[in-house]
Parts: sequence; C-alpha cells; structure tokens
Amino acid sequence: MVSKRAREVTPFMAMDVLERANELDDVVHLEVGEPDFEPPEAVFETAISSLRDGNTNYTAARGKPELRRAIAAHYDREYGVAVDPGRIVVTPGTSPGLLLALAALVDPGEEVVLTDPHYACYPNFVRTVGGTVRTVPLRPEDGFQPRADAFEAGLSALTRALLLNSPANPTGAVMDGETLADVADLAEATDTTPVVDEVYHGLSYDVDEHTMLEYTDDAFVLNGFSKRFAMTGWRLGWLIVPEAYVDAVNRLAQNLLICAPNFVQDAGVAALETPPDRLVEIRETYRERRDLLVDAVAEWGLDLGYTPQGAYYLLVDVRELPGDALDVADFLLEEAGVAVTPGVDFGEGAADYLRFSYATDIEAIEGAIERIDAALSTYGEIPSEAGN
Ligand SMILES: Cc1ncc(COP(=O)(O)O)c(C=O)c1O
Repeated sequence: MVSKRAREVTPFMAMDVLERANELDDVVHLEVGEPDFEPPEAVFETAISSLRDGNTNYTAARGKPELRRAIAAHYDREYGVAVDPGRIVVTPGTSPGLLLALAALVDPGEEVVLTDPHYACYPNFVRTVGGTVRTVPLRPEDGFQPRADAFEAGLSALTRALLLNSPANPTGAVMDGETLADVADLAEATDTTPVVDEVYHGLSYDVDEHTMLEYTDDAFVLNGFSKRFAMTGWRLGWLIVPEAYVDAVNRLAQNLLICAPNFVQDAGVAALETPPDRLVEIRETYRERRDLLVDAVAEWGLDLGYTPQGAYYLLVDVRELPGDALDVADFLLEEAGVAVTPGVDFGEGAADYLRFSYATDIEAIEGAIERIDAALSTYGEIPSEAGN
C-alpha cells in the first residue's frame, strides 16, 4: 500500500495543464516556468571538455572545492557578503537542497510556515519530511510582500522553519531588505530558522535584490542554475547552511544524493564566471515581456493590483470574469488556445487567480494577448462548467 506520506503528495497542476495543452494543436504556452534562453556558450564548452577529460566519477557529497569557491565569490561580488565555502553544499538542483534543509531541520509533527500563495511544490516537501504546513496570507495590496507581523501571528510552539521565496513564484514579488531583516529578527527571537529560496535571483526588474545572508548567518539559503543561467535540465544548485547544521547536511547529502554530476559542477563554475552583460540583456528582455502583459491585463479590465518585480510570473485576479478561475483557465485553453496555470496550485489564497508565465518569446506573448483579446470579447458566453 502506498504510504500515507506519498498519498498526501498532490499533483503539480502546471504539469497537468502542460499535458492537456500538448494534446491540443496550436497552443501558446504561458503555463510553463522554464526559461526560453540557452545557457552561456562557455557552459557547454566546459561541460564537454570536462566530460572528455573523464570527470564522470562521484565527487565529494558537498561538491567540488572549485565550485564551492566560485559560489562564495559570487556572494562577495553580487551582495558584498562573505560566505565560508565550508558552509556551501552543492546539490543536483535547488529542489534537493530544499529536501536536505527540511530533513535537517524538521522532526515529524513540527511545523513549517509558508506564505499563501507559495511555490506549488513546497507543501509536498514539508509533508515528505513528516512536517505540518501552516500558512500566512499574502495580500496584493502589500505587493504580495510577506510581512513579519503576519509571520509572527502564524507561529506556534511547534514551528521550526519559515520558508520564503524571493523573487517569488507565482507572484513575481521581490522581498525588500527591510522585510528580510524583520524576518531574520523574528526567527532569532522565536528560535525558528528562515529557509529562503533565492532561485530566481538575477531576474528582478527595477528593484535591488538582497540575499537573506546579508541579514543573518542562521538561515538556509537555496539557489541554483536553473533560472538565472537557464540550466533547468543540468540539475545543479546549492545550499548555504548555518554552521551548526553543516555536519548534519553533509551526512544527509552523502546518504540521499551522493553528489551532483561531476562535469556539470565544472560547467557551474563557467556559468558563475559569465560576464554580467549577458544577464543584463536577458533581464531587459524579461522586463519588456512583463510590461507587455501588465498592460494587457489592464486592458482586459482585470485589476492586477500590484507590479510584479521579478521571476517571470504575473498572478492575475480573474474574479471579474464569469465562472471560477478553473473555468476561466479552461476557457482560455479551449477557446483562445492559451495555456495558463490555475492559481489554486499555489495555495487557497490564489484560488481566484491565474498565473501567467512570460518565459516565452515576445512574439508568442503578443499572439497570446491577441487571442485572449478576441476570446474575452465573447467571455459572457462562458458556461460555468466550460471545458469540464
Ligand atoms: C520557487 C522555485 N524553487 C525551486 C524550483 C526548482 O528549481 P530547480 O530546478 O533548481 O530544482 C522552482 C522551479 O520552478 C521554483 O519555481
């Protein structure tokens, strides 16, 4: 019999939408969260030559020293923060890093506080380590910025960790330095630990990015190469660990993961050494796409209520339209040929919303906007059970 833990793991709806959308002809995909850029050329060259040099064996579980030093140099360059490479654990993607962090922190029955909305997979990570999810609501009028006082109200004696994500999926909100500092203070005062997923760092528009490490060393900070370097399938990430947990996380990594792929770690060094102008260009492209969609949403008469400042997502309130958000998502897929993700994937607080991803080229986004314009002119005719 399938374990209770596995039975409680919910499907990732964006993947279900993708599967359905792939069965239809001529669909514009605004549901996927995967960058449409290629990794830097030096990443390919380094991976290939590293492979040819025979770097295909296991490495130390915590990762190759060159990569851990390159990650430390990245924090110094980007944020002026000194990170001891001894606190860095390289992982096969950000996701396994989160598993290690929660496995090191949470005992069965203890709680992890998440924001609502949150990245769809977070509750399933918490359940997998036997933890319990508590949520604190985010509000569009705060720009979906978490507030330390809301977190404080969400804590109990059983709370071990506060799981945050900035820039955020699905809202695109970027936490400001003051909020990060407040959360760090709250965690210290309540003997809880922030776990901060910074995988979208590098993809912020018109705002400064801050890492939690500027405010505390007593936090787990997750990051990886999937988004900033468009290296999703390469499976490479890292975890910065508070000193007191280094040994435990290393033992967990040795047992559960063995290591990240050897030659991919070399490619990671090349990625981190990419000249910054490439990212500046990519960021500008994402910003243009965001602006295009933000304007389109206003023209559809929907109130976005905030400006998404990072990642590549917009969370759009569709209460103005007939039917619930699932009906509207079905309508957009079947009538307009545009796939988006129903917000309920990201928590109850997002049930009236749809997530639009702009990780696709500008022509496709323009096409999607035209299709939605045309379809919405008939939206009053949506039967509330559309597409079921
Ligand atoms: C917030 C967030 N964290 C983590 C991940 C997964 O990252 P990785 O590919 O590095 O495992 C995603 C992927 O979409 C994400 O949106």
